Amino acid sequence: MTPLADRYGRRFPYLRLSIIPACNFRCTYCLPHGYHADAGMPGPLSLDEITRLLRGFAELGMHKLRITGGEPSVRHDLTEVLRTAAAAPGVTRLAMTTNGTLLSRRLGEWMDAGLNAINVSVDSLDRATFARITGHDRLDDILHGVDMALAAGLSAVKLNAVLLKDVNDNELPRWLDYLRDHAVGLRFIELMQTGDNLAFFRDHHVSAGLLETELQETGWQALPRAADAGPAREYRHPGYAGRIGIIAPYSKDFCAGCNRLRVTATGDLRLCLFGEFGIPLRPWLQRDEQLDDLVRAIGGQIGRKEQGHFLHEGRTGITPHLASTGG
Ligand code: GTP
Ligand code: 5AD
Ligand code: SF4
Repeated sequence: MTPLADRYGRRFPYLRLSIIPACNFRCTYCLPHGYHADAGMPGPLSLDEITRLLRGFAELGMHKLRITGGEPSVRHDLTEVLRTAAAAPGVTRLAMTTNGTLLSRRLGEWMDAGLNAINVSVDSLDRATFARITGHDRLDDILHGVDMALAAGLSAVKLNAVLLKDVNDNELPRWLDYLRDHAVGLRFIELMQTGDNLAFFRDHHVSAGLLETELQETGWQALPRAADAGPAREYRHPGYAGRIGIIAPYSKDFCAGCNRLRVTATGDLRLCLFGEFGIPLRPWLQRDEQLDDLVRAIGGQIGRKEQGHFLHEGRTGITPHLASTGG
């Protein structure tokens, strides 16, 4: 096994695999009009294709796998996908990012299939605001699912809240109440500009800087950050069971610790969430005998990974919305 490393010395033990671009929610910043497939778009990778893909990434040192969408649970065979992923060579950590729609109903089944960790999008703790952002009045059931996940002993339960100016950027007190006795990792995420959300971004992007200062002034302590720790800067406070993370993609050096690669639902390798580079891997996923070619194809792309994204320059690459790349 030769672990992947790029021109900047970054390693990639972490793969984010989207298994379906479709989503049942209509988040205002992502898919405000819901998901509509492009005519003629190929279907998502099959279980066999996923098995071959993961074998290839295992050869290259991948050991953490995150299943993403769209919304992964829109895919009817999600449990089989999880079982396939958990059985793949090398996978020691199997996580999933979900909007939580089926969490309370399916958690047990997903854990039995091998799921170790879950990230749930919860953009607001206010029922009406949650419904306004996502298009679905599902907050109570989703929070119930989060409680179940905490009780079930997953290795990590994280919540994602995208900060939106004049919509949910005044909820810190409410979140603090919640975090007192909920051992989740809550992450405030700065809204990122994508190809489809330019006007929304102009109106609602807000830096997490003020919020971070407020945390520092109220006794929240920054945790030491490993070089390969992923995107969040994390804080904890002795009076709270939960932690807070800040994901600030516009901050300096955000990409220096990048530890991940992405594969879209139809099998395209993406070197960056916003990258312009990547190649279709599907042609190398058709037969077991293609493993060496697949490994060479992936390895051959790594030299093209850029040092960082171009968001500062207002460029969004080829990403219309994050549902298309798995967030
Ligand atoms: P873990 O570190 O495994 O918990 O994953 P995560 O926090 O990256 O996963 P999650 O799917 O919950 O993503 C949270 C937010 O971070 C989303 O808004 C992602 O789009 C953003 N994010 C994750 N990876 C990257 C990245 O490589 N670049 C940028 N710009 N944003 C990212
Ligand atoms: N900016 C920041 N975060 C986003 N997400 C989706 N679109 C955006 C965006 N434009 C978040 C979702 C989910 C995670 C996978 O990505 O809310 O929590
Ligand atoms: Fe769906 Fe996630 Fe996009 Fe919301 S942010 S519409 S839950 S893919």
